[in-house]
Amino acid sequence: AEVLVFDSKEAGAAVVADHIAALVRRVPTATLGVATGSTPLPVYAALAERAAAGTDFTRASAFALDEYVGLPAGHPESYRSVIDREVTGPLGLDPEHVRVPDGSETGIETAGERYEQAIIAGGGVDVQLLGIGTTGHLGFNEPGSSFASLTRVKTLTEQTRRDNARFFDSLNDVPMHCVTQGLGTILRARHLVLLAFGEGKAEAIAGAVEGPVSASMPGSAIQLHPHVTVVLDDAAASALQ
Ligand code: F6R
Repeated sequence: AEVLVFDSKEAGAAVVADHIAALVRRVPTATLGVATGSTPLPVYAALAERAAAGTDFTRASAFALDEYVGLPAGHPESYRSVIDREVTGPLGLDPEHVRVPDGSETGIETAGERYEQAIIAGGGVDVQLLGIGTTGHLGFNEPGSSFASLTRVKTLTEQTRRDNARFFDSLNDVPMHCVTQGLGTILRARHLVLLAFGEGKAEAIAGAVEGPVSASMPGSAIQLHPHVTVVLDDAAASALQ
């Protein structure tokens, strides 16, 4: 992987946003893979500036990585709501071209298969933004997930539920399950951009970038991909050799 280290997340985010904006100017129908959580927010803010300055995202598409299972429609912390609020609106994407896995309880049995079909029908993901969990997860593929896995329902670990409790009123309100792209799905994207900021991510980044390739460190799956860019701040890079 190409590892880029910046002295602030904003500086890293600006470089990623410039790269994506240039892609969209060159290929207006480009397909973006979008992550939720805190990490990519400065990239979305920078992309919104590029959109305001004239980059036209109206013909681009986006696929989210994952969704919680069972949140009521319109819940502000559902990833559908987060993507609409942080990405679709600010960038001016066509809502019809923005997909998030179906986390409704009624759709759960077919949600994975339908999402895989949608990604294939959309021609695959050109550039996939990724964050990494403190557990090493990509998407919600927790340790033990198969590198060949496709979109499916998973159980969130206790650690990940605690990490995400900040977005909810209490730990009890964090869903138990999610629908997430698999590591195999993620590895099909043509370019992976893994972002991590802050000391809390240093160990996971060292494992992902330099550790043995192992299902016990899902992030290490990036080592199997031919085109990966890792964008870090100094703190997230601090455990690299
Ligand atoms: C988000 C996702 C997760 C997060 C990871 C880091 O769609 O799939 O893998 O990227 O949990 O979360 P933050 O960025 O909030 O530290």
